[in-house]
Amino acid sequence: MDREIGGGIPKGSIVLLSGTPGTYKSSMAFGILHKAAISERSVGLYLLLEQSMGSLLSQQEKMGRTLDEVGKKNIIVSDVGRIRAAMDKFSTDGDWMEALRSYVEYLVEQRHVELLVIDSLPVLEILAGEEDRRSFLFNLFEWMRGLGTTNFLIHEKPSLNGEYGEEEFLSDGIFQLTLSPMGEVDLQRRIRCIKMRSMPHNTSMFALEMKDGKFRISPAI
Ligand SMILES: Nc1ncnc2c1ncn2[C@@H]1O[C@H](COP(=O)(O)OP(=O)(O)OP(=O)(O)O)[C@@H](O)[C@H]1O
Ligand SMILES: [Mg+2]
Repeated sequence: MDREIGGGIPKGSIVLLSGTPGTYKSSMAFGILHKAAISERSVGLYLLLEQSMGSLLSQQEKMGRTLDEVGKKNIIVSDVGRIRAAMDKFSTDGDWMEALRSYVEYLVEQRHVELLVIDSLPVLEILAGEEDRRSFLFNLFEWMRGLGTTNFLIHEKPSLNGEYGEEEFLSDGIFQLTLSPMGEVDLQRRIRCIKMRSMPHNTSMFALEMKDGKFRISPAI
């Protein structure tokens, strides 16, 4: 991709990684930090707001992204639990965004963080509880530019036709069940696994049948 975009992502950029659930958004962002931590010894901060640190790291390990001691020091993963703990230190009035900003600024200064990932933007918006979305985004982008880091914001697009998408990206797994027309008169029940964090699952669509009290799947035709 670096070659395809003319050499790579310019330092200091704010980049959106946008996709539906289970499309490797987090793995790509982690992969960028992983490569920078190993080959350039750059420090990356991964703000993990929608899953636990254990779940992200175990999948990355299964994908072969192991870290030596220096690498481990160069990737700081902070999930909501850690950020909450930091909140007590950085905020006196319980303002979530203010505490988060102070925490990140502290790490940028003290640990020389060069790469920042926010996973994900919609969850940050929920946690921030801001009413005015446009000014929230404007302030967030302005603050990120001031940090001097290269930034990756993970953006979520719903894959199902629901009105809201939050439940999809907060869930660890999604099975999609559908009814597909078969000719003029019949319907086939179908199932597929859209995502299953930390499992290398099949994403194919299967026909789903209930026979003799048991569910069976077969290739969907
Ligand atoms: N060991 C593995 N090898 C390859 N693919 C895997 C492995 N483990 C999990 N996966 C796939 O990775 C997907 C999750 O990857 P990742 O968390 O990077 O995606 P995401 O776009 O961030 O998803 P989410 O919407 O859950 O945030 C799983 O749904 C699964 O399809
Ligand atoms: Mg993710």
